[in-house]
Amino acid sequence: MIRLEKVTLAYGESIILDSIDLVIPTGKTMVILGESGSGKTTILKCVLGTLRPASGRVLANDQEIGRLNEEELLRFRQRMGMVFQEGALFDSLTVGENVGFWLWEHTDFSDEKVEERVRTLLKFVGLETSIDQKPSDLSGGMRRRVAIARAMAAEDPVFMLYDEPTTGLDPFTSKSICDLMRRVQREFQSTNIVVTHDLTDAYRVGDLFTFIKDARVIQTGTRKEIENSSDPFIRTFLSLDL
Ligand SMILES: Nc1ncnc2c1ncn2[C@@H]1O[C@H](COP(=O)(O)OP(=O)(O)OP(=O)(O)O)[C@@H](O)[C@H]1O
Ligand SMILES: [Mg+2]
Repeated sequence: MIRLEKVTLAYGESIILDSIDLVIPTGKTMVILGESGSGKTTILKCVLGTLRPASGRVLANDQEIGRLNEEELLRFRQRMGMVFQEGALFDSLTVGENVGFWLWEHTDFSDEKVEERVRTLLKFVGLETSIDQKPSDLSGGMRRRVAIARAMAAEDPVFMLYDEPTTGLDPFTSKSICDLMRRVQREFQSTNIVVTHDLTDAYRVGDLFTFIKDARVIQTGTRKEIENSSDPFIRTFLSLDL
């Protein structure tokens, strides 16, 4: 389970997150929806532990992330895969090196062991044959697959965070990435947070949905619950009142 309790964060005078409460049950996927600049990526960074809220707590399976020391945080991040906005691959490295990077940096695995893990992950995302290619030689959808494989490199994921994983992809490729995200969830029973602007994709991958506006959660619920919302912002977002 991932739980945010009254998470508050500001940059100078501007409050980005104002007492955010969120609960993502184990094995479920929460989709975060909201306008650009509403703080969605900031929420993911708080869960990842790269940003510390000014107040409030973030808990992952009852561990409070803000209280972990350096070593505990590293250990925690091994179980948390992050797929960054735009994928954020190293262009100078091959696909295999991108996926294996963390293992080379942080473990004493032999080259053979790293390669075996890399091949397993690339097979899982359907990119076995691209191991020696450079990210620049791949399509946008393939790059997202590499980013997902890389996010799972350290360990089978307990938590997965995806920041706009389908932005800029055509509808067919987006669907295939959503299918992959669902497969990760099923295979590993992972607890997931997905930020997206795309409602079709949100419904494909989400079990629960939350709307962020003006630094606050305005509603969280199942698809049925949000579609029955009377909030004008949500109704416009879902194109219910057009
Ligand atoms: N390091 C920073 N210093 C100051 N302000 C910041 C910093 N990082 C983010 N912000 C501000 O915090 C707000 C929330 O940013 P965030 O990246 O979380 O938005 P977002 O919802 O992910 O937007 P998008 O949909 O465009 O990715 C924005 O107004 C942004 O300008
Ligand atoms: Mg963002």
